[in-house]
Amino acid sequence: MMAAIRETLAEKGGWLRLAAVCAAPTLLVLAFALAAGWLVPGRLTAGTFMRTFGLVDGPHPGFRRNHAKGVCVTGWFEGSGEAVSFSRAALFTRSRSPVVGRFALAGGMPFQDDEPEKVRSLALWIMPVHGGEWRMGINDIPVFPVRNAADFNDFLLASRPEPQTHRPDPSRMAAFLARHPETQQALALLKARILTSGFADDTYNSLDSFAFINGEGTITPVRWAMVPEQAARPPAGPGAGRDYLFHDLIEALAHGPLRWHLVVTVGGAGDVTADPTVAWPAGRRQVDAGILTLVRAESEDGGPCKGITYDPLILPEGIAPSDDPIPAARSAVYARSFVLRSGEPKTASAISRADIRPGEP
Ligand code: HEM
Repeated sequence: MMAAIRETLAEKGGWLRLAAVCAAPTLLVLAFALAAGWLVPGRLTAGTFMRTFGLVDGPHPGFRRNHAKGVCVTGWFEGSGEAVSFSRAALFTRSRSPVVGRFALAGGMPFQDDEPEKVRSLALWIMPVHGGEWRMGINDIPVFPVRNAADFNDFLLASRPEPQTHRPDPSRMAAFLARHPETQQALALLKARILTSGFADDTYNSLDSFAFINGEGTITPVRWAMVPEQAARPPAGPGAGRDYLFHDLIEALAHGPLRWHLVVTVGGAGDVTADPTVAWPAGRRQVDAGILTLVRAESEDGGPCKGITYDPLILPEGIAPSDDPIPAARSAVYARSFVLRSGEPKTASAISRADIRPGEP
C-alpha cells in the first residue's frame, strides 16, 4: 500500500505538492499553539489559571473555577437617561431591560462557609429588548489586589494551602507582598472597608476601568458601582449559619424587590485606568445611570445563570475596554472555566432548589 502511494507521488512530483498541501494546516496549528501559549514555557494562559484554581481551591467539577458558591437572580434595569450624554448604549435611555444575575462569594470553593469578610460579588447580564447586551461582574471591595493577570496568578499561588498542613505558607505570601507594595496598599484598603449585613445592603464595584463613547464619539474613562437603596444593617455575629448570606438574600427577595443605583464615576485628568489597584480620588463627578431591580432568586441548579459566563468584554455599542489589562485576561479565563464546567458532571450546589421556596415572585 505504502509502496503504491510512494510510486504515485514520485511519478507526479507529488512529494512537493504534498508538502505544500500539509504546510498550510501545519503552520496554522503552530500559530494557534503559539497564540495559546502552548509552545512557550512559563507563558500565562487560561489553562494556567485552571491549574492554579485547582491547586488553591481543589477540584470541584461542574462548578465555576472562581466565585463558585452562588445563586441566580432575575429582574430588570431601568435607564434614567442621565448617562446618555456619556454613552450611546441603548440601555441608558429611559427604558426597561431584563436582567439575569448571580450573587456569589469569591473563591473556587462551592461549599465554603459564609463569613462577613469574604468578598461578595454580583454579576449581571442586561439585555435591552432591541439588542446591545451588557455583561459585568462586580465585587464589594474598593480596589483589586493586583495590577495584571500574571500577578493575580502569583498572588493565588502564594495563598495556596500546603499539602501537609492544609494551610498557606505565610512566608510565600510575605515574599509576594515584599515584591508588590501596590498589593500591600490594596489589601489595607480591603481590610478597612465597612462590612454590611449581606448581599442586599452591599455596594459592588467594577474595579476595572472602561470607556463610555457618546453619539459624537467622545470617549470618557469610567468606573461604576451598584449602590443599594436598602439601608445598611450591621454584619451578623458568629454562628449565623454556614449559608446565612444566601438565606438572608432569598428571604429578603421573598418579601419584595431589592434595588440598586448604577452610579457611574467619570475619570478625571490623570486618573489611572490601567491599574485596578489604584482608587480614583474622591469627589469625581458621578452620574446616576439607572436602577437595577431584582425580584427573584433561584438555585443555579437549573436556574437561568448556570449556563452564562459574565464575560466583562461583552459590552454594548457605547461602552469599550480601556487600557486596563485585566478584562481581556478575564474574558479568556471565564470562557475556559465555562467550557470545562459545562462538560463536567456536577453535584448539587450549596444553595440548592430545596433552599428556595416555590411560588415566590
Ligand atoms: C486576572 C484576573 C481574574 C481572573 C483570572 C478571574 C477569574 C475568574 C473565573 C475563572 C471566574 C468564573 C467564571 C465562570 O465560570 O463563569 C470568575 C468569576 C467572577 N469574577 Fe473574576 N477573575 C479575575 C478578575 C476579576 C476582577 C478584576 C473582577 C472585578 C470585579 C472579577 C469579578 C468576578 C465576578 C463577579 C465573578 C462571578 C461571575 C458569576 O457570578 O458568574 N474578577 N473570575
